[in-house]
Amino acid sequence: MIKLADRGNRISPSMTFAIASKAKAMKAQGVDVCDFSVGEPDFNTPELMREAAKAALDAGKTKYTPTAGLPELRSAIAEKLRRDNGLTYDPEQVMVTVGGKQALFNTLMVLLNPGDEAIVPTPAWVTYPEIVKLTGAKAVFVTTDEALGFKLSAQQLADAVTPRTRALILNSPCNPTGAVYTAQEIKALAEVVVEQQIVVISDEIYEKLIYDGLEHLSIGSLDDEIRKLTVTCSGFSKAFAATGWRLGFAAGPTTVIKAATALQSHSTSGATTFAQYGALAALQAASLKKTVEEMRTTFQARRDLIVSELEQISGLTCKMPRGAFYAFPNISQTGLDSMTFCEQLLDTEQVATVPGVAFGADSNIRISYAADTATLREGLARLHRFVASLG
Ligand SMILES: Cc1ncc(COP(=O)(O)O)c(C=O)c1O
Repeated sequence: MIKLADRGNRISPSMTFAIASKAKAMKAQGVDVCDFSVGEPDFNTPELMREAAKAALDAGKTKYTPTAGLPELRSAIAEKLRRDNGLTYDPEQVMVTVGGKQALFNTLMVLLNPGDEAIVPTPAWVTYPEIVKLTGAKAVFVTTDEALGFKLSAQQLADAVTPRTRALILNSPCNPTGAVYTAQEIKALAEVVVEQQIVVISDEIYEKLIYDGLEHLSIGSLDDEIRKLTVTCSGFSKAFAATGWRLGFAAGPTTVIKAATALQSHSTSGATTFAQYGALAALQAASLKKTVEEMRTTFQARRDLIVSELEQISGLTCKMPRGAFYAFPNISQTGLDSMTFCEQLLDTEQVATVPGVAFGADSNIRISYAADTATLREGLARLHRFVASLG
């Protein structure tokens, strides 16, 4: 039998993709599944972006681009970061990647040595610890308090730092909790980062999906000191409903971007050429602001619906998510662990959700509200019936 390398044995498959695949397979068999497992917008990619990619394809834009991306797209991303986020990066400090995931992967691969520690506030997106594992470093999990909105405090960060700490992975708005850090909270974390001279990997992929008038603040925009210690990672999947395009980016200090580009030159070679032209058009079109805002408003209405329905279910409690498109209700009063809860819910009521244990929180489940209102209502009615049946 072929023996895997230690690396191959260490890596775990994505639990969110596993549940989504099971739900998809059930749907393919004709089962009426309410699928709340997926982390992708249910909208189509805006027409303007699709048309620009099609035009690029027809114009023969089918060859390699430079590894770090089309120069004009790198400039457009630098401009977007300046305009929307107050971040000053030269285009050379920006790289285009195959999804936001590869931006994170490249960055962590060139920053972490075996034996280093990366602080991961939990609940956290499933991919962070797996990438950290691949680098040979150790993910140090810091459990955030549900009562305080699942946010890492400056004190918790300071307490978690050791001489081996190299990085903090910060995700606001957060998948799976929907937590959004306030300016004050970000500033307090930045102070610790600067004091300890660690690096922040700031995953801002949900930055456009924020509710209740809250505003996104990029940690790297606070001042020069923190900017030099920050790598900002993001992408087009969520804001432009473009998950399948596989387009993301990282922006940060030149040394990091150069090394990450070299890594990319020997892995994917870069993002798909005609997709990059679509992204360029999307960033340059003022009209898309309106489209993105419409999606945001729709998500906020769905968030309101789902939270108010969850409040009616005795046995569940739910912190108000302020961003992204997930609710993360607490199921501990049911007495079930999150995996059993999700499996039984899928088997008995055909509702697909993701067990919180995948994110390091076994008392919760993740419900994606990237689904239409009718499906949300039906799924929540089934969830209600399921919880009631547990007695
Ligand atoms: C928190 C977070 N970061 C990054 C990503 C990566 O997205 P993509 O690789 O599709 O751009 C995701 C996708 O689900 C995510 O939830």
